[in-house]
Amino acid sequence: DGPFTVLGIETSCDDTGAAVVRSDGTILGEALASQQDIHEKWGGVVPGLAREAHVNEIDRIVAAALAQAGMASAAQVDAVAVTVGPGLEICLRVGCEKAKALALEHAKPFVAVHHLEAHVMLARAGLGAEEGLAPPAFPFLALLVSGGHCQLLLCEGVGRFSILGGTVDDALGEAFDKVARLLGLPTGGGGGPAVERCARAGDPRAYPLPIPMVHKKDMNFSYAGLKNSFRMTVERARAELALSADAPLPDGAVADLAASFQHAAITHLEQRVRRAVAHCHARGVRTLAVVGGVAANAQVRARLGALCAAAGERDGEGGGAWRMVVPPARLCTDNGVMVAWSAVERLRCGVSNAAAGQEVYARVP
Ligand code: KG4
Ligand code: ZN
Repeated sequence: DGPFTVLGIETSCDDTGAAVVRSDGTILGEALASQQDIHEKWGGVVPGLAREAHVNEIDRIVAAALAQAGMASAAQVDAVAVTVGPGLEICLRVGCEKAKALALEHAKPFVAVHHLEAHVMLARAGLGAEEGLAPPAFPFLALLVSGGHCQLLLCEGVGRFSILGGTVDDALGEAFDKVARLLGLPTGGGGGPAVERCARAGDPRAYPLPIPMVHKKDMNFSYAGLKNSFRMTVERARAELALSADAPLPDGAVADLAASFQHAAITHLEQRVRRAVAHCHARGVRTLAVVGGVAANAQVRARLGALCAAAGERDGEGGGAWRMVVPPARLCTDNGVMVAWSAVERLRCGVSNAAAGQEVYARVP
């Protein structure tokens, strides 16, 4: 009863994040240290280096989030939350140790947060309300697209998710990262933003790529085949241009390749989401939340937004309008805000009201 505040901590991969969020959805303080520069030259996240960076940054980031909230210490929040998984074990441990220590020191409830639940729940924080829309009530459909995951979920309550579909091989974010590497674009902190930027100047029809699983009538995803086709297309383009092994592709070709990949990848997303929308429509659902790192992509937002608008129009019986909810782009990738908010939701319905330091593992079933 009454507003309360939660400190959320995230260290599951390559972002050290912390935030103080109030139960009405107001972000009081947030801080983030991205390890972009550290992993850049390795072309992917190196767990040992990631752990080291978390250890170096965690105290500073937590202090910065608290300070921005006008708090001298964690004594002033009402609960401490942390991502307990899934993620890189040695990285998760850094955040968990910090959160446990703070919860014990200040005798605060400790809330263990599932990383995927945090991405999804953020859609309910009312932050994407640039259009003045109310946050989605349960049940809603969620598309979770990140570096590690690609899922369609029917979200029926806190901790109550049905998986409608998932990837049979790679996640979409992973494919974006691979494409960035093949095109020689910066990959630290994820290659998605660089691919998106290049694609803006490119022709999406320049290099036609096969759309995955067009004949599979389910809600699953597959990106391994597209990744492979893309690699062969790049090799062919290099051969046609008679480039030597270490010569960079010309900017125009990079832009066209990036745009072509993005087009095929999003077309696959659309086809699966359209099926999930039809499935959920029959169950009275009218909201699609798009969450996870790839939801930061403007093309993904635009095309799925259009899909939702069209889904509403097709319904002849009225009450058909679908709407899309997407968190602000900076909060689509890993951060402390989503962890704190997810804990607000859990505390509010009493799913987790553990005593200080006691761990409560909440899993997506
Ligand atoms: O959610 P996230 O930070 O980490 C995981 O939980 O996996 O997602 C990171 C992923 C990376 O693969 C990154 O390339 C992708 O999200 N990503 C994007 C964009 N921004 C981040 N992909 C496409 N377009 C973007 N603008
Ligand atoms: Zn994530």
